[in-house]
Amino acid sequence: MLQGKEILLGVTGGIAAYKSVLLLRELTKEGANVNVIMTKSATNFVGPLTFQTLSGNPVTTEIFTLFASSEIGHVALASRADLLVIAPATANIIGKIANGIADDFLSTMVMATTVPVLFAPAMNTNMWASPVVQRNISSLKTMGYNFMEPAEGELACGVTGRGKLADIDAIMDEVKALLSPDDLKGEKILISAGPTEEAIDPARCLTNRSSGKMGYNLAAVARRRGAEVTLVSGPTAELEAWGIKVVKVKTAVEMANAIDANLDGVTTVIMAAAVADFRPARQAAEKIKREAGDYCLELEPNPDILAGLGRRPDKPFLVGFAAETSKLLEHAGEKIQRKNLDMIVANDVTAPGAGFSVDTNIIKIIDRDGQTTDFPLMSKEKVAGAILDHILALKQKRRRQGQ
Ligand code: PMT
Repeated sequence: MLQGKEILLGVTGGIAAYKSVLLLRELTKEGANVNVIMTKSATNFVGPLTFQTLSGNPVTTEIFTLFASSEIGHVALASRADLLVIAPATANIIGKIANGIADDFLSTMVMATTVPVLFAPAMNTNMWASPVVQRNISSLKTMGYNFMEPAEGELACGVTGRGKLADIDAIMDEVKALLSPDDLKGEKILISAGPTEEAIDPARCLTNRSSGKMGYNLAAVARRRGAEVTLVSGPTAELEAWGIKVVKVKTAVEMANAIDANLDGVTTVIMAAAVADFRPARQAAEKIKREAGDYCLELEPNPDILAGLGRRPDKPFLVGFAAETSKLLEHAGEKIQRKNLDMIVANDVTAPGAGFSVDTNIIKIIDRDGQTTDFPLMSKEKVAGAILDHILALKQKRRRQGQ
């Protein structure tokens, strides 16, 4: 998604400067052309050659080298870049920019540029909490600069608290958000993701192979495009998505209750979760012992969450998924009608690269009127974008038709 994007990466002098190397790797991996600007003190932590080698571009470190033609090119970049990210951003650079001081290349660049600027601060906990830093951040925010919240944890100085550089994944997500269209602004989207777990006894459960990747990608892409997103998630190893309200559940009944409790004002529901259709009729209080004899697990049905939403008179725009192993279109078509959906995303979970636990998917989108759109194998991030595009297009079509 960053293919063809020009990104300026400002690196200032803090121990987290080594993490900007990882950020640079992620940015270039996704196709961005990155030019790095380091403050003088940043070069005490990481050598410019590291950034130069990994970005394939000269690194600017001093305002006084501006006479070199490559550096003059960098000044021109301030106007033709798509985004300027400062990570880590020290209290010093934040203070300088908030107060109009442009005494090195990076602060000059920030003041010269008209493109969006994202600060990812990293500093000692007390510095972060200091009224001076907070005042500077608040005035920069008022002026339209964007900020990541630093993470909490053990800092290099030995103190535990807020001040660590935000996760690289979270910074990447915000970079993509700032470069995405805001075409989902005004949408309040509730997305379910992951499997459910139905306990048999305190040690065992019934579950499925869903990793949550499909639902988490949908949530991240919808948020980047301006939607307000609530993610109701079964147990997964996926990283907590940035800027999204996440409600963690285990069972299908808990998922149904969490969805019900978060439906207020929701315009669209996307059920990507693999909800268990059945649960054990009884849950043993103790771990079931291995004994001689026959074993039989009696099951009872779980609520069909999507069908329940489809029966509501005030139902939001409803998107279901169909995880099928045969007769994909036939089964998905039946589900769209039975559950009263606006559209369904069908995936053959037996196809290589599709369905459970992989980073890619192959989908067909079926509309209520039976129209089917086929998509090739794509990353789940791209699939998420295609699903959201389709939702927008269907809503626009209905508006045009006055429905
Ligand atoms: O999580 P990943 O590893 O990335 O894998 C993605 C996925 C394969 C889980 C996803 O692409 C997918 O297909 N999700 C739906 C899985 C599923 O439960 O399909 P289904 O055909 O059994 O159910 C149809 C629809 O009804 C689904 O939207 C489901 O969320 C919903 N449902 C199902 C049962 C139930 N009791 N309540 C429901 O709401």
